[in-house]
Amino acid sequence: MQDENVSDTTTMKDKVVMVTGANSGIGKAASLALAKMGATVIMVARNKERGEAARFDIIGKSRNNSVDLLLADLSSLESVRQLAVDFRRKYSKLHVLINNAGLFNQRRRVTVDGYENTFATNYLAPFLLTNLQLDLLKASAPTRIINVSSVGHYNGHINFEDLNLENDYGGWKAYGQSKLALVLFTHELAKKLQGTGVTVNAVHPGTVATNIWTRPFGPVGFIMALPKLFMTSPEKGAETIVYLASSPDAKGLNGEYVEKLKVKKSSDESYNEEIAQRLWDVSAKLTRIS
Ligand SMILES: NC(=O)c1ccc[n+]([C@@H]2O[C@H](COP(=O)([O-])OP(=O)(O)OC[C@H]3O[C@@H](n4cnc5c(N)ncnc54)[C@H](OP(=O)(O)O)[C@@H]3O)[C@@H](O)[C@H]2O)c1
Repeated sequence: MQDENVSDTTTMKDKVVMVTGANSGIGKAASLALAKMGATVIMVARNKERGEAARFDIIGKSRNNSVDLLLADLSSLESVRQLAVDFRRKYSKLHVLINNAGLFNQRRRVTVDGYENTFATNYLAPFLLTNLQLDLLKASAPTRIINVSSVGHYNGHINFEDLNLENDYGGWKAYGQSKLALVLFTHELAKKLQGTGVTVNAVHPGTVATNIWTRPFGPVGFIMALPKLFMTSPEKGAETIVYLASSPDAKGLNGEYVEKLKVKKSSDESYNEEIAQRLWDVSAKLTRIS
């Protein structure tokens, strides 16, 4: 299904787009839509088989051969750094970065770097990857960054005293914190990017029928089969992302939270500049960027 709000004639020819979590769900649907518009799409996945299967599917459906795959486990900072290196070995421009990969962990898990997995994958990875790609994005301007957040950020809070939620873990608490962190990052980065020709916005894609709802339940994931029937399709969920990535109408948007193609107010905490600055400083330390 093609996005009705993005004109069929919108072209992304000569644009290089990087999409994380591109083998599944919303990221795959966004990759396909942008490939159909003629973009060179660099898909990022952690599993080669799943990544290649999605890449072949997208090439077949879009008839666009300029769809590439890079592998990275975004829960690992070293893997994120290697991803940026691998990208630069092949590409000298980047016009759109879509930080889409994300997950929900019912139980607390810790990454190879010792961080809580939801925070590391959903937030620290986009923070680091974006910072590593910033010079390329600036050199390729006008360019756009899209952070896939969630309505779950409204219930989020940044627990500076226990960012890794060692003392009181909850799946939704971790998810909300990570998605709020992404919105705070979006606001802070938008300020820093003023006048550079690079914009950054956050998105809530809607409640979308994807693996994110079934994977946390493991073998009993089938219990979500019925609720998933009432959720929107990945194609519909990708609409706002594709709009922000490609539409001339979205050119001037910077530092916004967007849902169903409309700018919306994000949570009160997301506008707290002190928290945003503190989070940036902590994140820079955790990811060891200057
Ligand atoms: N579905 C919704 O209702 C909804 C609502 C609000 C926000 N979102 C957000 O939308 C984004 C896309 O999610 P989705 O719903 O499309 O779910 P999905 O189908 O599960 O897609 C998530 C993608 O992220 C990838 N990923 C997870 N952990 C990774 C890691 N450590 N390294 C590399 N890739 C990793 C997954 O790879 P694998 O396939 O290998 O696991 C998959 O490609 C997420 O950020 C999610 O939080 C979704």
